[in-house]
Parts: sequence; structure tokens; C-alpha cells
Amino acid sequence: MTRILAVANQKGGVGKTTTVINLGASIAVHNKEVLVIDLDPQANATSGLGSEEADVYGVHSFISGEHSLEECTVKTEVEGLYLVRGARHLAGTEIELASQEHREFFLTESLSASNLSKYDYVLIDCPPSLGLLTINALVAADGVILTVQSEYYALEGLSHLVDTINRIKAHWNRALSIFGVVLTMYDKRLRLSREVEEEANEFLGDVLFKTRIPRNVRLSEAPSFGKPVILYDAFSSGARSYMSLAREVLAR
Ligand SMILES: Nc1ncnc2c1ncn2[C@@H]1O[C@H](COP(=O)(O)OP(=O)(O)OP(=O)(O)O)[C@@H](O)[C@H]1O
Ligand SMILES: [Mg+2]
Repeated sequence: MTRILAVANQKGGVGKTTTVINLGASIAVHNKEVLVIDLDPQANATSGLGSEEADVYGVHSFISGEHSLEECTVKTEVEGLYLVRGARHLAGTEIELASQEHREFFLTESLSASNLSKYDYVLIDCPPSLGLLTINALVAADGVILTVQSEYYALEGLSHLVDTINRIKAHWNRALSIFGVVLTMYDKRLRLSREVEEEANEFLGDVLFKTRIPRNVRLSEAPSFGKPVILYDAFSSGARSYMSLAREVLAR
């Protein structure tokens, strides 16, 4: 069975894309087939995986039904890791979708018309908003991974996000659940990080992954080489932490 997981948080810069790239790569090295869908007009997952923005065969033409999944999928440097590329004009697609009926279901419909059986996991990188693209991802997914940066107000935004997820569940996608929450840019020497951790533990319980993603410069350098961190510095704390997160995901 293919598991479709959206990686979301309306807050910007909290490690969504870093998680999609590196969790995707770390799952793929466990002999799994993983498809990353770059649903963010910033297309950071695309460049971070060493690809160019898509002109025609990308996520915009996939969700508008112009091209098939096979036509829109490219390989990455990691064996078993595939990508549907993002593009800046996805922002235009989002505006076009807004006036259409069933606008929440474009990704769902494109995915259900596709043969996903070869993939064990589909990871969707969401933009930093709760707009139509993120809604499309949450309607198409069977689980959400929330990335939470270990900082002040991190959990305040989270309750808003959880409300949105519950609303989507009630209206459009009863199968949706919070698959897990991961604390990113964690620094155990900082009291603040530990406070966020304690609060998250209390608020989230078991959905909080045990793995913490530390602040690690290798994680921020790797995308400029178009590589997941395991291909850039496999022994870095960032690479090890995403491998550990992948094991947790595989066990869930
Ligand atoms: N654990 C980490 N350690 C160090 N730097 C990190 C870490 N995680 C992310 N970064 C860096 O922080 C910045 C934001 O991360 P990222 O792009 O993954 O967040 P995002 O939630 O996808 O952002 P956006 O909302 O803009 O899409 C990037 O420059 C990234 O390289
Ligand atoms: Mg991003």
C-alpha cells in the first residue's frame, strides 16, 4: 500500500522542505521507492534534489490533468527517490484553480488517475500557507507530518494548523490523520529548545516523533549542491537524525 504524507506548516522556514528531501532520501536507502511531489511555487525541494524547475512536465501540469504522473516524474541522484518537479508558475495554477469547482480535489484526482503501486511513500512538500495548494495536499494525503521549529510561538501556530486539519477531515478527507510531528532545528543546550520539547510532549503525546532534528550546518549547505545530506555528509548529525526519523516513519 502506498502511504501519502503531506509535510505541512503554514509557518515559513520551519524545515518542511529539508524534511521532505532528507526523509525521502533516508527512506529510499532502506530499499523503498519514494516519490516527492514539490507542491510549493518556491520549488525548493526541486532545486534541493538537484533538478531544474519544470517548464512543462511538472507539478502544475500534473495537477491540472494535462500530463500523466509518468510524464512528470524524474529520477534523482538517490536510487529509489523520484520527483515531480515544482515551478514558480504553480502560483498561477493556484489562482486558476481557485475559481473552479472541486478545487480542493485536483491533486486527489490526479493521484487517483495514476498508478502509484510502485511507490511505498509519496511525500508532498507544502508551501508556507493554508491556501489551496496545501488544502489540495491535505485532501489527497492519508497522513500529515508537521515540522515544528524549536522556538517561541511554535506551538501557538500548531493549534491553528490542527484545527485546519480537523476541518479538512470533517469536510473532505475522513481518512486524514496526523502521522507525526517532528521538532526541527533543535538545540539541546538551549533552554528554549527544551521548553518547546516539554510543551510539545505534553500537547502531542505519541504523535511526537522521538527523533529530534538538530540544527546542523550540513543540512543547510547540502541543498546548494543539489543533494540530500546523506550524499553530502553521511556522518553529519543532520544525516544521522534523518536516518533515525526514517526508521521511525517506517515503523509507524
Ligand atoms: N535542522 C536544520 N539545521 C540547520 N539549518 C536548517 C535545518 N532545517 C532547515 N534548515 C535551513 O533553514 C531554512 C528553512 O528550512 P526549509 O526550507 O526546510 O523550511 P521550509 O519550512 O520548507 O520553508 P518554507 O516555508 O519557506 O518552504 C533553509 O535555509 C534550511 O537550509
Ligand atoms: Mg519549503
